[in-house]
Amino acid sequence: MDCIRVRGGRRLGGTVRAVAAKNAALPILAATLLTGATCRLRELPPIQDVATMMRLLGELGVRLTEREAGEWEIEARDLATYEAPYELVRQMRASFLVMGPLLARTGRAVAGLPGGCAIGVRPIDLHLKGFAALGAEIDLAHGRVSARVPGRLRGAHVYLDYPSVTATENIMMAAVLAEGTTTIENAAEEPEVVDLANFLNHLGGRVAGAGTRVVRVEGVRELAGPSQAGAAYTPIPDRIEAGTFLVAGVITGGWVAVENVVPDHLAAIVAKLREAGAAVEVEDARVVAEGPARPRATNVKTLPYPGFPTDMQAPFLALLSVAQGTSVVTETVFENRFRHVEELKRMGARIDIEGAGAVVQGVERLTGAPVAASDLRAGAALVLAGLVAEGETEVLEVHHIDRGYHQLVERLAALGADIRRVSPAPVLT
Ligand code: EPZ
Repeated sequence: MDCIRVRGGRRLGGTVRAVAAKNAALPILAATLLTGATCRLRELPPIQDVATMMRLLGELGVRLTEREAGEWEIEARDLATYEAPYELVRQMRASFLVMGPLLARTGRAVAGLPGGCAIGVRPIDLHLKGFAALGAEIDLAHGRVSARVPGRLRGAHVYLDYPSVTATENIMMAAVLAEGTTTIENAAEEPEVVDLANFLNHLGGRVAGAGTRVVRVEGVRELAGPSQAGAAYTPIPDRIEAGTFLVAGVITGGWVAVENVVPDHLAAIVAKLREAGAAVEVEDARVVAEGPARPRATNVKTLPYPGFPTDMQAPFLALLSVAQGTSVVTETVFENRFRHVEELKRMGARIDIEGAGAVVQGVERLTGAPVAASDLRAGAALVLAGLVAEGETEVLEVHHIDRGYHQLVERLAALGADIRRVSPAPVLT
């Protein structure tokens, strides 16, 4: 298994370009199942999760052709099946996003029940509540969930007990081909939800209100495809990847400029970086963050958008672990998203978990150590800590990082980091 070796102490300086958002590309790829028309997607990030979703679409009978780097032609004219194999759902929870489109397009959908993962139980009750409200019969047995609707889904009013991102997305995709209007109340407002709505409308759907708590979908009989034949769609830039690079600049006392971002999507991250003492400049599609010699402590509470994103909690906690003062980090979205804390403590961080909160007493310096990633954001946090730790840090289980970060090592090295990826010497048998 590869590992990442990073030697701390270098101040970063330079510019990096954000790639398209993993959490926008995944639902948009799933949405291509809704139409037999050809879809063209641009700038898809070449990360593991996108490859997994493409593999799943291929197994469902979708034809995917790469026209040039990052530009794909996707055609779901004749679907081969309506079942998402457990193996793929187990690998990537976001595979569950094919349920809504399959149900709407074929009247059937079967997927392995996604289990929990490193950050929490991750239930799907709200997804199923929405499908049932639209008229689907749901059956749970043998570790699989199957949904079916005799005839067509019917528009309905759905209240989400929690503004779940993928539940909002799954229900929105199912509703787009339903008969009548669907209202999703207490919907997630994340930019990735808005991007999916824009893509559905690009295909001929009628989705309104995305980005607010109430989304209205007027069902259509079919999605005819882009109004301008052949028009391509580019997902929004990845705000979490951009935030991760900004923290890399600040934690090292250097600076990083991230281009090709939507500054509004980074508002909470920019606010917290400023509270931590960073100088942050926001321009049209570019954000530059420069770190102080040592960051200041501040408190962070993760919340649904537009609150501070849970996916930035681990990277930001790495920054606070070397801040001057004591910070409190409260994780309100997932119930077990502090697995990185034990690894940071092995590097000398002083963090105590008390329920949903982590009390972080900033230390002057961390020391490099072998550490293991437990999920992609925790992995990124350990790399960030390694950038500032004394000596060498070896991050193991880097496959987690490959799921959602495109060339993290190469791009940090280009910013001046002493970092490299090491593949173990082949075991001579
Ligand atoms: C999406 O996951 C993202 N994944 C996650 O990113 C992100 O952390 C999360 O939203 C929160 O922003 C994708 O978009 C592919 P949720 P999702 O449903 O939709 C509860 C990353 O690192 N809930 O908004 O699965 C759940 O228990 C990943 O890129 C229910 O109770 O998150 C959790 O406490 C990690 N019932 C809360 O909602 C449900 O049916 C938030 O989950 C669904 C969710």
